[in-house]
Amino acid sequence: LIVNASDASGKPIPETLFGIFFEEINHAGAGGIWAELVSNRGFEAGGPNTPSNIDPWSVIGNGSLINVETDRTSFFDRNKVALRLEVLCDSKGDNICPADGVGVYNPGFWGMNIEQGKKYKVVFYVRSTESLNLTVSLTGSNGVGNLASSVITGSALHFSNWTKVETLLVAKETNRNSRLQLTTTTKGVIWLDQVSAMPLDTYKGHGFRSELVEMLADLKPKFIRFPGGCFVEGEWLRNAFRWKATVGPWEERPGHFGDVWMYWTDDGLGYFEFLQLAEDLDALPIWVFNNGVSHNDQVDTSAVLPFVQEALDGIEFARGDPTSKWGSLRAAMGHPEPFDLRYVAVGNEDCGKKNYRGNYLEFYKAIRNAYPDIQIISNCDGSSRPLDHPADMYDYHVYTNANDMFSRANAFDRTSRDGPKAFVSEYAVTGKDAGTGSLLAALAEAGFLIGLEKNSDAVEMVSYAPLFVNANDRRWNPDAIVFNSFQHYGTPSYWVQQFFSESSGATLLSTSLQATSSNSLVASAITFQSSVDKKNYIRIKVVNFGTNAVNLKISIAGLEPNSLQLSGSQTVLTSANVMDENSFSQPNKVVPNQSLLKNVGKDMNVTVPPRSFTSFDLLKE
Ligand code: AHR
Repeated sequence: LIVNASDASGKPIPETLFGIFFEEINHAGAGGIWAELVSNRGFEAGGPNTPSNIDPWSVIGNGSLINVETDRTSFFDRNKVALRLEVLCDSKGDNICPADGVGVYNPGFWGMNIEQGKKYKVVFYVRSTESLNLTVSLTGSNGVGNLASSVITGSALHFSNWTKVETLLVAKETNRNSRLQLTTTTKGVIWLDQVSAMPLDTYKGHGFRSELVEMLADLKPKFIRFPGGCFVEGEWLRNAFRWKATVGPWEERPGHFGDVWMYWTDDGLGYFEFLQLAEDLDALPIWVFNNGVSHNDQVDTSAVLPFVQEALDGIEFARGDPTSKWGSLRAAMGHPEPFDLRYVAVGNEDCGKKNYRGNYLEFYKAIRNAYPDIQIISNCDGSSRPLDHPADMYDYHVYTNANDMFSRANAFDRTSRDGPKAFVSEYAVTGKDAGTGSLLAALAEAGFLIGLEKNSDAVEMVSYAPLFVNANDRRWNPDAIVFNSFQHYGTPSYWVQQFFSESSGATLLSTSLQATSSNSLVASAITFQSSVDKKNYIRIKVVNFGTNAVNLKISIAGLEPNSLQLSGSQTVLTSANVMDENSFSQPNKVVPNQSLLKNVGKDMNVTVPPRSFTSFDLLKE
């Protein structure tokens, strides 16, 4: 492998090349990175008609003690459903309540992870016909064990109107499978609505599960595409993600049923929170909005203007002046400064749909006119022929088997450098080569990414998909990060992305693999200043997709004498079996291993193991 490290041969890699794509799929957000513990907090998931299903809430107490049903008496206009509890028993008289009371409980998303010493803020709205005596508690999954509790009391007069209650619970012990209970031993009628339980300790205090967001931060993503995917489109337009329903006070958000991935979201993780997450990660937000097209229905171009206005309003919300109509809502939500929204994507995977081009042009004209600097991303692939419409970038999605993915290292070799650049906004090896996250899949992706790095004059951005899976709701395999209520691990595909975390904004060096090298090798080299120690490095990355070890002579040309330190490091991702995966019981089975690299020089002999991805970091003097 010859690496030309002379300054003149280097090419700048886009500052934004490597980022992430967050989709609300697999309970990635609700029951995932959004730390809300209560599922269906407003009792809206059963639909607007009452009485409705209150799943996953359940009743504590039988029918002779309590009647529970939904009605439409909520204080909040956009989510009218509330829960009505008619308590038939009492603390005295002939129908005595059980000592622990009657009421309702919520198990959260497959059990709440409650940790000793941690604080949980419980907020809910309540109304009562009698004086209130309501116990709020965190218990074990069967209601046994009191991890934390508080009693809310007050006169009938005080609670005759909807009243917001806040209480802080401090957990006395840890239970990974807890539930939140609201119980009473007092006869009367109580209404509940918008019941929330949030840990106080979240990423930057913004409501995200810290350990999951830290996995993202470690990738040093330069952008975050959100909130989907198919989630943006919906099977039907009525179930698509519409940003206006996801902003403002959380209590007032109606929530919605995502009918592609088939689950309800309370939309606590809404448009504002996505923008906040991008800012917290120091990543540029890329907002994908619905363009009037779902999987099964579409708005005619002649009727698409309300959608166009909605997109314009969304841009104003993100970056408009705090005195503007939508910018003022953002300011009221605690962020007077504009968010750094520079990119929007018109739809997702809709290029082939009848109305896409017509609709797209309406969005393009309106956004270009109102916000000339915003980069507009088309769904139509321009990698092999020019687009027939104006765009600043185009989406390129690929889900395929391992061999095909590896061969796509060359996918952009012949792409025109004149037109808009590609946004490889979704890629992954899927199917039997991938399982739920194999080394084989990751190596093929590593080869593909090396190809993109080398073609980054035609590719502006790249992100893996999907990012997260809650192991209790696998809608899609594989995914980069697997979690449940208290555990998480990265799949090999996640770890591959870490090898590229210094590539955005680095300088690409020209490399050539000699003919004698195996054709199952691909390699690239960059020079960069480390974001950790601020020193200058050369990083050479090599994927050996083959089944034999390869002895490689690396020659680095174009360096001044003595310009390399004599030792460096090598990081290798490999495993005994190419189908090996990580798991909750073995989270570190396939992870990168770093070791010292001795005898560094302009000519080095190294061995790259079979089925491996290796990076050599050489420190410049
Ligand atoms: O990443 C999973 C899905 O794959 C996305 O929602 C969609 O864009 C693609 O079809």
